[in-house]
Amino acid sequence: MRSIGTRLAAWYALAATVTLACLFVVGYQLLQSYLIHGLDLLNAAEFEQIRARLGPDYKTLTSEVINQRIRETTEYASVLFYIDIHSEQHGTVFYSSNLQGRAIPDIPGKHTYDAAIAGVGELRVAEFVLPPFDVTIATSASQVRKVMEGYIEVCSALLAAMLVVSVIIGFGLSRLALKPVRLIRETANRIRSDNLSERIPVGQVRDEISELARLLNQMFDRLEYSFNQIRRFTAEASHELKTPLSLVRLQAEKLLVAGDLSAAHEDAVQMQLEELARLNRIIEELLFLSRAEARVITLDLKPLDPERFLHGFAQDARVLAEHHGRQFVLTREGEGTVAFEDKRVRQVLLNLLANAVDASPRDGVITLRSSLAAGLWRVSVEDQGPGVPGEQRERIFERFVRLDNRGGDDKGSGLGLAICRSIIELHHGRIWAESGADGRGLRVVFEIPATQIAVDTTKGPAEKTRPAPELA
Ligand SMILES: Nc1ncnc2c1ncn2[C@@H]1O[C@H](COP(=O)(O)OP(=O)(O)OP(=O)(O)O)[C@@H](O)[C@H]1O
Ligand SMILES: [Mg+2]
Repeated sequence: MRSIGTRLAAWYALAATVTLACLFVVGYQLLQSYLIHGLDLLNAAEFEQIRARLGPDYKTLTSEVINQRIRETTEYASVLFYIDIHSEQHGTVFYSSNLQGRAIPDIPGKHTYDAAIAGVGELRVAEFVLPPFDVTIATSASQVRKVMEGYIEVCSALLAAMLVVSVIIGFGLSRLALKPVRLIRETANRIRSDNLSERIPVGQVRDEISELARLLNQMFDRLEYSFNQIRRFTAEASHELKTPLSLVRLQAEKLLVAGDLSAAHEDAVQMQLEELARLNRIIEELLFLSRAEARVITLDLKPLDPERFLHGFAQDARVLAEHHGRQFVLTREGEGTVAFEDKRVRQVLLNLLANAVDASPRDGVITLRSSLAAGLWRVSVEDQGPGVPGEQRERIFERFVRLDNRGGDDKGSGLGLAICRSIIELHHGRIWAESGADGRGLRVVFEIPATQIAVDTTKGPAEKTRPAPELA
């Protein structure tokens, strides 16, 4: 049982049922002893009646008279009592006919006890002395047994009902008791890098849970501070690096233009320029990501026709794909307009296309699908490459994550998909990766709401992207 709520409910139900069971056991003992005591009182009352009927001069009476008197006394109660009166001197002076010739068992040293006679049943026996006679009176205990059996049946039903009710009450109580914990979990779950200022609400009551919430909030304070430091550092470092980098590039270009370098030196400077361009691109991308995180990027959203936009993109994409020996296919469904910034979405598609080209085998088909339905524009780019294992598909959207799955001379920096995610989230959409058709290749999908009511980039992304269920 993983849930604390379930465990609490189970413990509560167990404790309540066991307590009730103990009470029933005590009740059973008490009830049984009261009933048996009642039988003993009955036997004693019958004895008193016999003694009264015999009178104070019973010692002078003959056995026949005694028998006669007792028979008259006990006639009415012959179904209730089993009586045996005997003495050493006179032998048996009275013996109830309902005993059917069987003797009442005797337990030496005991005056009241339980016994059973075959054909008669269970009896409660009491022995009395009426000198010189020993009087043994027994009464049927079968009613007591029936009452006790009924008690057990009722108690079992009550215990079963108690178990069900206590499980329900236990669940209710545990839900109530764990409500603050759920609140902490939900809030903590919402707190992410783009939402670090949110805090867990702390109640007025000072208990263990509010103390935990306070400690977690303090931890979030420290985390937010560290995150902000890192963000500021990235933004400032990228910004500060740009100027010296441009100077180095200018110097290198100047050296090339001067034309007094040897062929080997010219190659070296050329290589430096290429690496500088790459470095510049990384800095630009980091700056973009920092600004997107700081929500200072404003999109130029216009209602556009995705069909026209994709038609233009497909022409370039086809040329690019064919240049690398890949095929490019575009499929479109649905009509309408979508508010998006074409430059940014084009950047996303180019990133996805570049990844697909890198991953595809020669002559591999890269498919771009677009569908516009139910207020959602959905676009996917699918290739026939090696794909990405399920557990890594979310990771590839993190910065600088590059998997060793494309082989060859991979010069990527691992920022492409992080930028794609930022751009799509700025459009209040989401992006994720899944496996391609038949489990082959990779399909990267993004969705953008067709109509965005408020174009407000100061708001956070609508929802952090999460992988959608696999289609294939
Ligand atoms: N279509 C794909 N097939 C297989 N792996 C992919 C695919 N697209 C991305 N990946 C994996 O995800 C990693 C991250 O991709 P991303 O686009 O973010 O970075 P990059 O392509 O390596 O560099 P950059 O795009 O910044 O030049 C890639 O290095 C690659 O390992
Ligand atoms: Mg890339």
